[in-house]
Amino acid sequence: MGFSQQRSVQRLGPNMVIRPNKNALDRTDVDAPDRADHRRRIVVVGATGMLGHRVADVARVHGWDVVEAPRAAFDLTDLVGTTTWLEKTSPAVVVNCAAWTDVDGAEADEAAAMAVNGEGAGNLAKGTAAIGARIVHVSTDYVFRGDASEPYREDAPVDPQGAYGRTKLAGERLVAEHNPDHLICRTSWLFGEGGGNFVDTMLKLSADRDELSVVADQQGCPTWTGHLAPALVAVAASDARGVAHLCGSGRTTWHGLAQETFALAGTGTTVHPVTTDEFPRPAPRPAWSVMASTRADVPALPAWQDGLHGHLAEANRLAPA
Ligand SMILES: NC(=O)c1ccc[n+]([C@@H]2O[C@H](COP(=O)([O-])OP(=O)(O)OC[C@H]3O[C@@H](n4cnc5c(N)ncnc54)[C@H](OP(=O)(O)O)[C@@H]3O)[C@@H](O)[C@H]2O)c1
Repeated sequence: MGFSQQRSVQRLGPNMVIRPNKNALDRTDVDAPDRADHRRRIVVVGATGMLGHRVADVARVHGWDVVEAPRAAFDLTDLVGTTTWLEKTSPAVVVNCAAWTDVDGAEADEAAAMAVNGEGAGNLAKGTAAIGARIVHVSTDYVFRGDASEPYREDAPVDPQGAYGRTKLAGERLVAEHNPDHLICRTSWLFGEGGGNFVDTMLKLSADRDELSVVADQQGCPTWTGHLAPALVAVAASDARGVAHLCGSGRTTWHGLAQETFALAGTGTTVHPVTTDEFPRPAPRPAWSVMASTRADVPALPAWQDGLHGHLAEANRLAPA
């Protein structure tokens, strides 16, 4: 989105992470397994990204030996390079947070997006399988058609409507095909420190404008990286396999998310509801991106409002009580 923020995940003590809502995070607050040293190594791919850097920080706090895969040494579109690097690094688990995340750009160059989101994910699955490592792979609500009226559960039929969704679905399938020890974690509407996201864009816009128009006919589950990252670290240490949905509980629209953001930040910004048709974009946006999980073996994330509160508190953007 053309701007960046300083990455400054706070560490409050040797085994503590920021807990804006301690009770809500209890279910994801687990330590790394008691394994031999080399089995405590976790590779985070995409560790310069909004989610990846948080996963690396949380894993470190939980006692993992974290290796952040640098793009310079590790382009996941290169099978030989990826496999060789993983052999040398010898992790127990790889968490793949890397992706081509430019949804509109994927429409213009689906082959390039596929190389990262599809084949690249497959390369990681092959490389991890070759060394007996587990892979936790992050995916998206865009794999669904987006026209339902009930939350999508893990076994709901997939039918992506745009290039980004098609490439992410291809990645899911390749991960499942090449490494049996996989967990594909679909998430949605991410926001967090250290990356372009809707919440920060809204706050930035509100600095110059008293009124904004925001789409009110798309429903989804906003997810704070501060909630998702501990959940990903938890499932990295578990035996859960297959597909899991990990997103903020509850649902809202972009309009609702903007309203709540401005209410918590005390900006006084007026948000006018508009339709998707009034904001044409190159890639189709799902009207219904609401996901739910049927799985008892993966953490349930707290409500999206708690996540928003946590993000704004961390960014020092909460209005004084
Ligand atoms: N953002 C959302 O709203 C959202 C919603 C649902 C699902 N997701 C999924 O969540 C995950 C994390 O998203 P994010 O928003 O944190 O992503 P992000 O901030 O855009 O970061 C993407 C990361 O991928 C890396 N990367 C891209 N191409 C690569 C390649 N060829 N080789 C190695 N690394 C590469 C980037 O490295 P460089 O810094 O070197 O470019 C960066 O570290 C992705 O799987 C995404 O599909 C995101």
